[in-house]
Amino acid sequence: MDDLVIGIDLGTTNSCVSVYTKGRTRILENERGGKVTASFIYFQPQGGIVFGEHAKTISVHKPENGVYEVKRLVGRKFDDTYIQKTLDYFPFVISSGVSNVPIISFKQNDRKIEKTPQELCTIILQGLKKYAEEKLNRRVNKVVITVPAYFNVTQREVTLAAAKDAGFTVFKLLNEPTAAALAYYFENDITENHISLVYDLGGGTYDVAVLQKKFDTIEVLCVGGGTQLGGHDLDNCILDYILEVLRKDYRHKAKTDADDKRRLRIKCEEAKKELSSATEAVITINGMIPKHPRIIITLTRDRFEEKASKLFKKTVDILDNCLVNSKISKQSIQEIILCGGSTRIPKIQEMISEYFGGKQLNKFVNPDECVAEGAALQAAMLSTRNG
Ligand SMILES: Nc1ncnc2c1ncn2[C@@H]1O[C@H](COP(=O)(O)OP(=O)(O)OP(=O)(O)O)[C@@H](O)[C@H]1O
Ligand SMILES: [Mg+2]
Repeated sequence: MDDLVIGIDLGTTNSCVSVYTKGRTRILENERGGKVTASFIYFQPQGGIVFGEHAKTISVHKPENGVYEVKRLVGRKFDDTYIQKTLDYFPFVISSGVSNVPIISFKQNDRKIEKTPQELCTIILQGLKKYAEEKLNRRVNKVVITVPAYFNVTQREVTLAAAKDAGFTVFKLLNEPTAAALAYYFENDITENHISLVYDLGGGTYDVAVLQKKFDTIEVLCVGGGTQLGGHDLDNCILDYILEVLRKDYRHKAKTDADDKRRLRIKCEEAKKELSSATEAVITINGMIPKHPRIIITLTRDRFEEKASKLFKKTVDILDNCLVNSKISKQSIQEIILCGGSTRIPKIQEMISEYFGGKQLNKFVNPDECVAEGAALQAAMLSTRNG
């Protein structure tokens, strides 16, 4: 038991922790019993740091002290186009620090506090470590952490350094699609040379990879993806639509302030999730426009699909490029594994299946848990080898 190594899926929106024991993987739940935990940090104005679901809830008190999507900032320079584009989008303040590293700042007890993405990443990993230790009732300091396949050397180095500062010895940084494939291979009897495609659409990023089973390893045949393509961008599509309705139908001319936008975006995400099972969702807006104290907007699934169609298509184009550039035929793909919360969207499932000529998609892998499970499996393999 001394060599217990956990697996962490360190996500942009949500993180998940798993461990392999007694011949199976087990998800280690957070303090609320949730299997995934928001990668969210709240710096309390009076001092103290809150992590996870609770942080997300209480950040409404002072949104500029709530930090999220840290993974999108890791290993980037302040003048990186992505960071420059998102400066207005985040409620927290980002500026340039030593060596052009982005610095996130906020106030606690009227004092200015500054954190680098690496330090924020450490806080998230410390929070997850605490959950794992509470669940397992023992110290845990060995880990396999998953990272997107497209992460460059700097992004990987920053993740490793953050984990070290959180008190972890990192056995391996495992690519997310490889982890998902490992979880799938574990549950299924897979023959040699089996080729699978992992389509991972999370909150912040999109990853696609084609993988082939070779003896006891997994060979990556091709990877593609986008760092600004995920559930948050879909929320923004709905937000833009709602703001357009407010302008046209309610003559809302004033610039919507950041706090109203943040509140609206939360409602847009809720509506988006609802539309994965219902054909209509209702968005209620209270007290934003004085003349119309209560506004009710019905969003149909068709309208959502129309507004998000460009983003949906982009994911399929990236997938297509990935296959074409690597000269991999559609027919050679034996299994399509969906992971990431956004793959619950029916239109996305329909488009991928259509792209592969109506092929059935694998629905047996849990889209929220498979990456962490793969990390736990890799962790178990490495701890046996090292032990
Ligand atoms: N039922 C649903 N329908 C549509 N979208 C959903 C549903 N459930 C969750 N999502 C979306 O999934 C996204 C979160 O997915 P996930 O937890 O896989 O992301 P992540 O792993 O943190 O991100 P990344 O892999 O990009 O680092 C959010 O944008 C959320 O709104
Ligand atoms: Mg993910």
